[in-house]
Order: sequence, then C-alpha cells, then structure tokens
Amino acid sequence: MIETAPAPASVAGPALPPWAARLRPPLIFLAPMDGVTDWPFRELCFRLGAEVTVSEFAPAAGLMAAPKKLMRSIGARHGDRPFLIQLYGKHPKDFAGAARMIYDHLPCVGIDVNMGCPADQVVSHSHGSALMREPQLGAEIVAALVAATPLPVSVKMRAGWNSDSINAPEVAQTMEAAGACMLTIHGRTREQRFTGLASLEAIAATRAAVSIPVIGNGDIRDVASAQRMLAETGVAGVMVARGAEGNPWIFADLRQALKGERPPDADRWSLSAVVWEQVRLAVEDRGDDRQTFLPLRKHLIWYARGIPGKDSLRKRAQQISSIDDVDAWLMDVEAAMAAAGMHGRPLTPEAPPSKVVAGDAAVDHQHGAVRPV
Ligand SMILES: Cc1cc2nc3c(=O)[nH]c(=O)nc-3n(C[C@H](O)[C@H](O)[C@H](O)COP(=O)(O)O)c2cc1C
Repeated sequence: MIETAPAPASVAGPALPPWAARLRPPLIFLAPMDGVTDWPFRELCFRLGAEVTVSEFAPAAGLMAAPKKLMRSIGARHGDRPFLIQLYGKHPKDFAGAARMIYDHLPCVGIDVNMGCPADQVVSHSHGSALMREPQLGAEIVAALVAATPLPVSVKMRAGWNSDSINAPEVAQTMEAAGACMLTIHGRTREQRFTGLASLEAIAATRAAVSIPVIGNGDIRDVASAQRMLAETGVAGVMVARGAEGNPWIFADLRQALKGERPPDADRWSLSAVVWEQVRLAVEDRGDDRQTFLPLRKHLIWYARGIPGKDSLRKRAQQISSIDDVDAWLMDVEAAMAAAGMHGRPLTPEAPPSKVVAGDAAVDHQHGAVRPV
C-alpha cells in the first residue's frame, strides 16, 4: 500500500514555465523515449496521471524537409494537456524554422532541445549530447528558438560528457542566460549512456546553479526513487523514462504519494484495461492494420514481466498482429494471473530496466516481480 503524503501548502521555488500555471510542484513528467513514447502511450500515461509529456525527439532539419510526415509522427494531439515537442540538430536556423512550423501547425506548450542523446550516429553529427561539449552552440540554438516564436524553450541535458567533465551546472547557466525557461537533467554522462547510476549529486549541483526550474531524470522506478530524487536534489519535478515501460501505473502512484492526489479512475486500470486502452488508442491513431501492432509488441512484452508463464507470453507477444491476437493473449495473461492469485495490475517491477542499444528502442527485456493487489 502506498503511503499518501499530505499535499504541501505551498512550495517555494523557481517560477514554473507559463504552461505549468495550473500545476504545482513536484511536476510529474513522462520522458521522451524514441520508439516507446508515441502518441498512444503518452495519452495512456496522461490518463494514468502523468502531468507533462514530451515528444520523441524529432530532427529540426528533417521537420523543414519533410514537414507532413514528421508532424504526423510527432502526434501533437493531447488537447490542452502540457505537451512539449523535442527537437535535435545543430544548426540554430533549423531549430528556428522548425519552431515556426510547429508554432503555426502543432498544438504544444513549448519546445525542448535535445542535448542528451548519446547514440553514435547522433553524436557524430554534433547533435544530442555532443552539445554538452559545445555549450555555446547550445546557447545559440536556445536563443534562436526564443527569438523565433513565443513558445517557451527548455533543454534536456546530461550530467556531462564523461566522469572527468561533469559540466551540467555550467552548461545550465549558459542555457539560462540564453533564455531557457526550464531544464531537465539526466544524471548520467554521455559515456555512461544508459548504464550505471544517475548522479543525484550532479543534478543537485545543477539545480543550485540556476534560478529556473530543474527537473530530475534517471533511475526513477517507483515512489521511493522519486522521493529520493526530490529529497536529495531539490528539483521542481521528476521525469520517468524506463520506469514507465510496462508500468504506466507509476504515474498514479506518484500523483498519490507525492501530491496526495488521486488521479481520475485510478481503480479501473487493471492490466487488461491498460492494454486495451493502449491498443484502442493505437488503432484510433494508425488504423486497424498489422503495422499498428508492431510497435505495441514490446509494450506487451513489458506488461508480461513477472507473470507466470512469461516466457511463452513474451514469445506470443512478439507475433501479435491483430485485435483478435491481443484478445487471445490477454485471456491467457488473465488466466495466468488468476491461477497465481494475482488480480488487478502488476506493481512496480523490481527488475533492472531494459538495456538500450545506440539510443534506439532495442531492448533486453528483464523479468520483474508482480505483487498481487
Ligand atoms: C528507448 C529510449 C529512447 C529514448 N529517446 C529519447 C529521446 O528521444 N529524447 C530524449 O531526450 N531522451 C531519450 N531517452 C532518454 C530518456 O528520456 C531518459 O533520459 C533516460 O532513459 C534516463 O532515464 P531512466 O533512467 O529513467 O530511464 C531515451 C531513452 C530510451 C530508453
């Protein structure tokens, strides 16, 4: 049972961006994850309590070259919920052009600059975390974005390039001076990619170095790790990435424990209800077509973590191509859970998170424990 903390009467801290006017700290974010956090999953996470979501990263230059395709894949269809669009690249004029296009055509509350992607093919073009070594260029990008549209600009960055160059505090100051209104710090270096532990120390030092709000990211898997992030760094919010894979309920848990809030309809979200909602949203978005089910397969594999018979469930999840397949798969999931005395939903898996290869969605699915509810 999760303990509910009393809602703080007021939390003094840096002014939140205008789009967060209706929210109070700590803000609860779903992180951008390329190949994972598409529109259906973001929408699902919003329904389960995420307060802010961010698009998968989109190339600023590509947006100019193929606007229709990219604008569709960004999926800026979240009504009036706070949704940021993240761009990557290296030319300030590309960012400015992309921002103008976004401002004219896509509903979102702000533009986020990617200074964190560690993938070789991204870094070799001086994009993503390569900007941690070129903070002046990062500042030019932020300044170009600020000048291009009225949309607030934020930056998501790493602790530094490697353990010898933890420079997030200085880079953060440079971004603030250039006009950024909020920063997210992933407490790993580029060298760490997605392994090892995120440094709460680096996040705390960055938070102390600037007067704009900082969001903490890295290793948030459950309420306890979110509370640790908040207590040890003093950040204005937490951003959950791999902790949401197969566990979108984490947002309901965080809303309840950190803010004393009960997200609407939290009780009706059994495992089956969550899967059906995600499938329904995916079909609404992409049609009832075989292709729609391919990106869903990895999510189903994550949902099966810890359920008895997971090996065969995971194997079958890899073949799912239709609503009927999902139906048959879920019947087996429910039967396996019932036989094991589980009902409702799996709770926070205790397994290590999936491994990421080269910054894309290639994963090594780990087994997690499912607690009966
Ligand atoms: C599959 C995958 C794709 C990612 N794609 C993005 C991205 O598009 N933009 C970004 O800023 N970070 C991206 N990230 C990084 C996450 O947002 C987050 O910073 C990182 O996973 C650390 O958080 P965690 O320890 O909670 O997973 C990605 C991470 C994963 C696992």
